[in-house]
Amino acid sequence: MPAPVIELHDVRKSFPLPGGETVRVLDVDSFVMTAGEQCALEGQSGSGKSTLLHVISGIMRPDSGRVVVDGIDLTRLDEARRDRVRADQLGLVFQQFNLLPGFTALENVLVAMSFGSGRPDRDRAAGLLAAVGLADRLHHKPAALSIGQQQRVAVARALANRPRVILADEPTASIDPAHQQQVIDLLKNTCAEERVALLVVTHAPEVAGQFPRRLRLEDFNRAARAAVRPA
Ligand SMILES: Nc1ncnc2c1ncn2[C@@H]1O[C@H](COP(=O)(O)OP(=O)(O)O)[C@@H](O)[C@H]1O
Ligand SMILES: [Mg+2]
Repeated sequence: MPAPVIELHDVRKSFPLPGGETVRVLDVDSFVMTAGEQCALEGQSGSGKSTLLHVISGIMRPDSGRVVVDGIDLTRLDEARRDRVRADQLGLVFQQFNLLPGFTALENVLVAMSFGSGRPDRDRAAGLLAAVGLADRLHHKPAALSIGQQQRVAVARALANRPRVILADEPTASIDPAHQQQVIDLLKNTCAEERVALLVVTHAPEVAGQFPRRLRLEDFNRAARAAVRPA
C-alpha cells in the first residue's frame, strides 16, 4: 500500500452569511490520496471543490479536523509554517494561472523556487520549461505568451520544488480545446514520472474520464449533499 500523501480526517469548514448565519461547505469524514495517485474531482458549481483545495494547500484553515500532507499535520502549524509546506510539498495550478506579469517565464519558475527550501536553479527551471514545450519562450513575459503557453508555464512552476502533490483547480477551463489535452497530458505524465499525487478539479467529462480515480465531491462531502445552495 503506497504511503498517503494527503489525508483529511473529520474536516469541517463553514463560511459566514451576510445575515449572521453560517453555511457549511465542507463536511468530510475521510479523504486520502497516496503517492503517485491521479484523481479527477468533479462536482456541482459551489459544492466546495475550490474550498477543499484551499484547505489541502493550507491557504485556508478548516474549522475543525485534521489535514495531513506528506505526513505533516497542517492544522497544527501556524501560517508561516503552512506557507513553507505549501512551497516545498505542493504544486498549485489554477484556472487563472496567477503568473507574475512583470516576470519572464523563466523568472516565474525561479521565483517559485525562491519560496522553497532549495536554492533557485536556473538549469532546472529552464529544463522544466523545455519539458512543457517552452524552450524557446524562456524570456517571454506572460502577456507575450498564448493562454495555453501561460498555463504550461504554470505547470512548470508547480513542479519547481519537486512537490509530492499537485493540486489543479480547473486547469484547462480557460484554454482552447486544442491545448487542453496538452496540459492534461503534461500534468499526468510528469506526475507519473516523479510519483507526484495529482488532484485535478474539472467540469469536463472527457478530462475526468482519463483519470484512474474519478470522484464527485458530493460523494464524500456531506455538506455538498445536504445543501442545494441558490446561485
Ligand atoms: N471566502 C469565502 N467566504 C464566504 N463564502 C465562501 C468563501 N469561499 C467560498 N465560499 C462559498 O462556499 C461555497 C463553495 O465554494 P467553492 O469551494 O468555490 O465551490 P466550487 O469550487 O465547487 O465551485 C460557495 O457557496 C461559496 O460562495
Ligand atoms: Mg471552484
